[in-house]
Amino acid sequence: MAILTIRIYGDEVLRKKTKYVKTFDKKLEKLVHDMFETMYEYHGIGLAAPQVGILRKIVVVDTLEPDEKYVLINPKIVWQSEERDVLKEGCLSIPGVEGEVFRPESIRVKAQTVTGEELELAASGLLARCIQHEMDHLNGILFIDHLRESERATLARALQELAVA
Ligand code: NI
Repeated sequence: MAILTIRIYGDEVLRKKTKYVKTFDKKLEKLVHDMFETMYEYHGIGLAAPQVGILRKIVVVDTLEPDEKYVLINPKIVWQSEERDVLKEGCLSIPGVEGEVFRPESIRVKAQTVTGEELELAASGLLARCIQHEMDHLNGILFIDHLRESERATLARALQELAVA
């Protein structure tokens, strides 16, 4: 068990694309375990591997609601609702910054478990939002990229300060 170092906005690794996981071994299990530990330590509800400097398609989420704890390896959204909703988001890699993001309200996701088995799940509400936010990280996308121009402008200084810290 280990608490991993969370990469902060301005770190190049957060803008890189990730590779598929092909080896499902003890090392992957340990990494996933450590990602959960790290997420809980910092009171997050989701964490993606690039946030701990690892460029692989690995996401952990736990909204703390029953049955809303998942490991998603190589996740893919196979369906999304036309209905969207908006909610204020934050990110462990962008501390102190929040902004309203529109996203599809419901999704279906295919992924693999930590042991490589196929998994398909339907999610809506906070879980769907959290999964989409974390999956964005796998493509180097951050929630601030989705903000309205006006909102991003008001956050510009806070982001600049994070990036040079
Ligand atoms: Ni995030």
